[in-house]
Amino acid sequence: MAFYEVYSHPALIRYKTSVCTKATLFLVAILCLTYISPLLVAYRSQGFWTKRSTYEEQPVVRYRYEALLVAATSPLGDHVTWSTFPYLNNMLGPNFRIPAVSVREEDQNQDGKLDLLIFKLQLPLRADEQVYSVQLLLTFSYQLHRMSTVVMQTLAYVQHSSSVPGAKLFIGGDLRLQQRAPLAHRGLNNIYNVSVIDGSSPFVSSYDLENIMRSYQSRNLTTVLSCPSPVWTLGRAEGSPFELSAEIRYPLEVISYRPGFWETIKLAWIQYVSVLLIFLWVSERVQRFVFQNQVLTTVPVAVEKLHLS
Ligand SMILES: *[C@@H]1O[C@H](CO)[C@@H](O)[C@H](O)[C@H]1NC(C)=O
Ligand SMILES: *[C@@H]1O[C@H](CO)[C@@H](O)[C@H](O)[C@H]1NC(C)=O
Repeated sequence: MAFYEVYSHPALIRYKTSVCTKATLFLVAILCLTYISPLLVAYRSQGFWTKRSTYEEQPVVRYRYEALLVAATSPLGDHVTWSTFPYLNNMLGPNFRIPAVSVREEDQNQDGKLDLLIFKLQLPLRADEQVYSVQLLLTFSYQLHRMSTVVMQTLAYVQHSSSVPGAKLFIGGDLRLQQRAPLAHRGLNNIYNVSVIDGSSPFVSSYDLENIMRSYQSRNLTTVLSCPSPVWTLGRAEGSPFELSAEIRYPLEVISYRPGFWETIKLAWIQYVSVLLIFLWVSERVQRFVFQNQVLTTVPVAVEKLHLS
C-alpha cells in the first residue's frame, strides 16, 4: 500500500540554557549584529539622512508691468532709454524715448496659472540713429505654494549687442528659478518680497543696471531668463522703428528643498528595514545551524503538540 502525505506541521523545538553560558553570549552577539549592522550598512551607503530633496511645481508668475530699456544708438555709446519709472524718465533728458509697448500674458493650458508673456516694443529712432545693442529689464512677481510658500519679486534681464545695427530683436526663453540653497519644507519665505528696482527713489544710481544686478545677484533665490539664442535681424528700413519682441515662458520648475523631520525619518526607516530583512534571514539560518547541530551546548525540548493559536 502506497503512503502519501496527508498533512504536515512544523515541530517546535525549544533550546534551553542558563544565563551565563556561551549560548547566551552567542545570542546577544547575533542579535546585536542583526539589528545594528543594517544601520551601519544603510548609513555608510550614503543618503541615509536625506538633506535635500526635490519637487515639481509651476510657479505663479505675473509680469509687474515694470520695464527698463537701454538701447545703444551708435558704436560710440550714445543711447536712448525708456522705463516705467517716472523719476528716472524725468532725469533722462534728451535720451528719453517713448516706445509703443504691448504686453499680453497667456494661460495656455487653462490651469489658472499664466504660462507665457508676450512683450512687444517698437522704439522710434531719429534718422541718424541705429541700434547696436539692447538691454532690457523686466520685473515679475513670483510665487510658490506647494511646500514652503515663497513670495518674491524677481527680474528677467536680456542683453544683446552686435557690431552691425539691427532692425529687430527676438527673444524667446524661459524664466528659470535659481536657488543657492534649498528651500524649507514649509513656512513662509517673503524676504525677497521687495522691489528689485526702487521706483520711488529720485536718485539715478537706483536705476543703474550694474547696481540693480549686483544687489539682485546677491540673493539666494533669483530668476534668470534663459534665452539661448536671441535673433538679431538686420536691415532696418529708413524711418521705421526698432522692434523688440520677447516671449517669456513660465515653465514647471524642479525645486530643491530640505525635507522635514518626519520625511527624513520615514526615508531612513525604509532603508533600515529593507537591509534588516536580509540580516534577519541570515541570522535565522545561522542560529538554526548552531543550535540544531549543538555547536553550543543547550538542552533541546521538543514540544510534542504545537498549539496553533
Ligand atoms: C508682498 O508685498 C506686497 C506689496 O509689495 C504685499 O501686498 C504682500 O502682502 C506681500 N506678501 C507677503 C506674503 O508678504
Ligand atoms: C543664503 O544662503 C546661505 C547658504 O548658502 C546662507 O548662509 C544665508 O543665510 C542665506 N541667506 C538668506 C538671506 O537666506
